[in-house]
Parts: sequence; C-alpha cells; structure tokens
Amino acid sequence: MKIPITKPYFDGTEIEEIKESLESGWLVQGPKVRQFEQKFSEFTAIQYPKAVSSCTTALHMGLLALGVKEGQDVIVPSFTFIATPNSVRYTGAEIAFCDIDINTYNLNPVEVERLINKNYKNEGNNLINKKTGNTLTTILTVHQFGLASNLPEINKIAEKYNLKVLEDGACAVGARINNTHVGNFGNIAAFSSTPENPSPPERVEWSPPTMKPKRSFSKPLDHTAPQSPTCNDIRKVDSSCLILTSLVITTA
Ligand SMILES: Cc1ncc(COP(=O)(O)O)c(C=O)c1O
Repeated sequence: MKIPITKPYFDGTEIEEIKESLESGWLVQGPKVRQFEQKFSEFTAIQYPKAVSSCTTALHMGLLALGVKEGQDVIVPSFTFIATPNSVRYTGAEIAFCDIDINTYNLNPVEVERLINKNYKNEGNNLINKKTGNTLTTILTVHQFGLASNLPEINKIAEKYNLKVLEDGACAVGARINNTHVGNFGNIAAFSSTPENPSPPERVEWSPPTMKPKRSFSKPLDHTAPQSPTCNDIRKVDSSCLILTSLVITTA
C-alpha cells in the first residue's frame, strides 16, 4: 500500500485560473502574483510580502537582507529540514546548531542561552566564537510542523545579545502565538506553500505559559478582518500564479 505524505485537492477552478494566466501573457510577476501577496498579507497581517520561487530562496534572501555573510555564525535548530541550514551556508556564514525543546520540536530558548554562554565571549558588544573568531549575529528559528517556536523568549535573548531573528515558517502558514500570526515576531520571515507543508484549514495554536501545543483540526480559522481570504483562496491564487513553490518574505 502506498500512503502519500500529502495529497493536494483541487476543485477545478485552479485549471481555469492557470488557463487565464497563460492566455493573458502575464507569466512572470503578473497581477496574480500581487494578488497572492495581498491575500497572504491580509491572512497573516504581515506587512511587506514578497513572493519568490521557494522558501529556500526566501531564507537565503532574508539572511542576505539581514547582512549575514562569511565570518558570522547563525543559530539554527538541530532538528529541521535541510533547507534551513543550507540557506545559512549559501551566505558563507557558519551554522551553530542548537538543541530543541522536545515538547514543541522547536528551538529551546534555554539551550540558545546555554550555547551562547558556552561558545561565545563578549567583545565590544559582539559575541565572538571562542574557537573560530566568527561573530554570532542571527537566530534562525523554525516553526516546525505548524507549531510556533517560542518567539517571545527568543526575542528576549536576541534583544539581550543584539542579535537578529529570522523565522522559518515553511510549515507554519496559519500558526499563531496569542492570535498573532507567526512571521510578525522576528525581523524577517519565510514561508512555503509546497503541498507537503501543513497549512489551514488545520489550525494550530501555541500558548506560551504551558508550552503545550493545542491542536484542533476541524474548527474554522479566525478571520478578524471582514474580507480576509480563506486559505483555499490563497491556494487558488497561488496555483493560478504558476508559482509551484511560492512563499513570502517579509520585513518587520
Ligand atoms: C522547515 C523548512 N524550511 C524550509 C523548507 C524549504 O521550503 P521550499 O521547498 O519551499 O524551498 C522546508 C520544506 O519542506 C521546511 O520544511
């Protein structure tokens, strides 16, 4: 028996949208790309959405936008998809793997602080790697399997040590912390809409005090904005844009 990791469902309108795009001649950066960005922005309340070719590209661009380069270290959770650490290596920076919290599968803030104290020394407001001399500049945190990473605590650490935060929300469209969509907490965020990455109508919430994820799979999403799109709308626009693995990066 074959059990697919994921199975996309289409209702027939997608093919019409694709046809419309093909017939319009707008195959690159056309109006539907803008529409996708707008709908994603309405859904997440993220202010400056940009559609690019994949989440991997968005992570790479996000790191470059934060100034990450050779001679720097970036903290990455030890449990993630290979694209996360790869994006760091594309910039020439080094990866500082950090352990996760077994309750959330995400970066453990206690371990982040432990790693900093163990491996870095403070020199003129910079965290210098005791072995390599690299400067620690950024935390790349992942919202794994739709569970939000502990951004409130990670942001406190980032502020304390003057670090930037990049959110990898590849698997977390629809995940919120206290009703705020992930991607609104760090400096920049990246998302994916490849079919294997979970997205609504599944709704996943996380509450900081208990660290226990609350899952409910059948409830509809909260739509605070009167005309906010459903996730199916987003998916439709997405496929009609002919962006097969589209995602968004944002700057806060
Ligand atoms: C955590 C994480 N980051 C990044 C990616 C890369 O996403 P994409 O395939 O859109 O480049 C994935 C893909 O599954 C992922 O799971």
